[in-house]
Amino acid sequence: MSVMWPQTLAFGGDYNPEQWPDDVWTEDIALMREAGVTMVTLGVFAWSLLEPEPGRYEFDWLDRVVENLDAAGISVDLATATATPPPWLVTAHPEVKPVTAEGVRLEFGSRQGYCPSSPIFRDHATRLTRTMAKRYGAHPAVRLWHISNEYGDHIAECFCDVSQSHFQRWLAERYGTVESLNDAWGTLHWGQIYDAFDQVPAPRRMPGPGNPGHALDWRRFCSDALLELMLAEKTVLRDVAPHIPVTTNFMSMFYALDYWRWATELDVVTDDAYPDPADPAAHIDAARNYDLMRSLGGGKPWLLLEQAPSAVSWRPVNLPKPPGVMRLWSYQAIARGSDGAMFFQWRAPRFGSELHHSTMLPAAGPDTRVFREIRSLGGEVAGLGAVAGSRVRADVAILLDWDNWWALDAAESMPSDRMRWRAALDPFYRAVFRAGITADFARPGDDLGSYRLVIAPNSYLLRQSDAAALEGYVSGGGRLVVGPFSGVVDEHCRAHPGGAPGPLADLLGVRVEEVWPLLDGDTTPVTLAENGAASAATWSEWLRVGGADVVARYTGGTLAGMPAVTRRAHGAGAAWYVSFLPQDAGPLLAPIFDESRSTVRPFDGVEAVLRTGEDAAYLFLLNHNRVPATVDVDRQGTDLITGRTVEGAVDLPPFGVAVVQQNGPGAHATNQGEIA
Ligand code: GAL
Repeated sequence: MSVMWPQTLAFGGDYNPEQWPDDVWTEDIALMREAGVTMVTLGVFAWSLLEPEPGRYEFDWLDRVVENLDAAGISVDLATATATPPPWLVTAHPEVKPVTAEGVRLEFGSRQGYCPSSPIFRDHATRLTRTMAKRYGAHPAVRLWHISNEYGDHIAECFCDVSQSHFQRWLAERYGTVESLNDAWGTLHWGQIYDAFDQVPAPRRMPGPGNPGHALDWRRFCSDALLELMLAEKTVLRDVAPHIPVTTNFMSMFYALDYWRWATELDVVTDDAYPDPADPAAHIDAARNYDLMRSLGGGKPWLLLEQAPSAVSWRPVNLPKPPGVMRLWSYQAIARGSDGAMFFQWRAPRFGSELHHSTMLPAAGPDTRVFREIRSLGGEVAGLGAVAGSRVRADVAILLDWDNWWALDAAESMPSDRMRWRAALDPFYRAVFRAGITADFARPGDDLGSYRLVIAPNSYLLRQSDAAALEGYVSGGGRLVVGPFSGVVDEHCRAHPGGAPGPLADLLGVRVEEVWPLLDGDTTPVTLAENGAASAATWSEWLRVGGADVVARYTGGTLAGMPAVTRRAHGAGAAWYVSFLPQDAGPLLAPIFDESRSTVRPFDGVEAVLRTGEDAAYLFLLNHNRVPATVDVDRQGTDLITGRTVEGAVDLPPFGVAVVQQNGPGAHATNQGEIA
């Protein structure tokens, strides 16, 4: 069953009225209306207040809050309130508290302090969820169920005995017999042959490196254990109030959970995004995260559920967002498919560990820079309803597979611990962004036929079936770029025969004889065709070419003169192998963008993304520069923010934004070819 998310742009934030007396609630509602708030997230950490004793509930305050909001026309993203177990629960059942890999049981006093596998926690959580669903499921203000909060944020794994038994059951289901587990993990190595599943430990602290198959299955299990818990609550919600869509808030590109699997269980993907104002590349990483959120939902609109109005309070140094940046970054999320912009949180708290986090309504009140910016953005977003439901269409895909990420990052004893998924992804994503190309994320086994170009920054773990799908994509006319250290192991972390790139060797026409990691700070020059230059950092490889054309060579270091990048024509398409991590992948990808007919619009600080709806397209222009910019636009339209007609060019102030509505033919264009 799929429940549709209503097609309006949401604006609002986390609201914790339980921390304030009622007279403040009245002021809250008045200021929310002033700020254009349309939805708030309620009750995320309210369990101990809602159920002060087992089975005794106090809903009166929440009833009144929901009523007041409804009367003001503000809808509710209602939490199931299970993100922090109440003290009475962990006192009565201390075994609910999670245990670290070192065997330390973590004490109560923060949040999320529960073991994902605990049946006791699950029973209590689903009981509260059922009670909440029965009480509020029919209330017209409740538009979204918010299950728990940021699964895996603090506790992504637990090593207690209950978790260990759960892991053993999970393994038994996956492998059937312990012999097939031994075979999959290769437990002959270092004498680890198991006789029974109940001998397999949770990978607590060990004397030395563990088995890679064990480490990978543990990561899969931990994601599944939390997913099971989320599904237990979702099942209750579907049972009691199936008309309300469900979500749980994601944490952007988050290591511990396989969001591809999670997203299929949600009616709407929601994200909490906290780009760092101190990071000059923050907007690029944010774009990457938003592209992922859109892709997780199969291209449907998603929702930015949390962002900071200004500074956060959990980095060593927390810079505020300069004037205009909160607005700019909110529009960036909307441009990349979010149907709204929400915040953490509404009002500045009086106590607690998030005292110094920025809020929509600062402690200094509404006569503040932050509140003025919030109010003004709320007013603008209210006028952008037409954008809701429109889609971002991308012609380039980047492959992301959590199994691969885990296999690469969780394994010990690797050639270089610098070769990590993010290290491989970043140069490729950044080059795509800087070429002005909007990309989707996809899995290697997906149907990739609609993309002109597919980039696999790293596929260390590659299944035979995925390699076959990639071969099919290329022979059908696709362009595929494969990054270094790919096709090394199968889904159990066993080496592919013949070495890397394993099942891609024929398609790519290369063999890796030896990997050649680089020390920190070392680089190796690479010469590209037509005198282009690139530079390898962190990683390079000694290649043997058989059947591919060499399109770039190492020109320094021990590998000088050897092939660095190859291209092989295959069927109607072509496949490239890049044997190193480029410091800047731009020059390397430029001819490939060309060959794949991807329209490049070099990024000069102005980001341009197109959303397309039924009858119109919406061109988002986002000036990330601290100086004004002028952008040429090749089709006439109306800037929905200013109401002005746009013809030929748009002038954008520093951090300025335009949302140009373009009607008529061409409104269904993809992100290729709309901008002059
Ligand atoms: C999120 C969390 C919120 C709040 C916020 C602060 O991770 O969901 O409850 O803690 O961070 O940035």
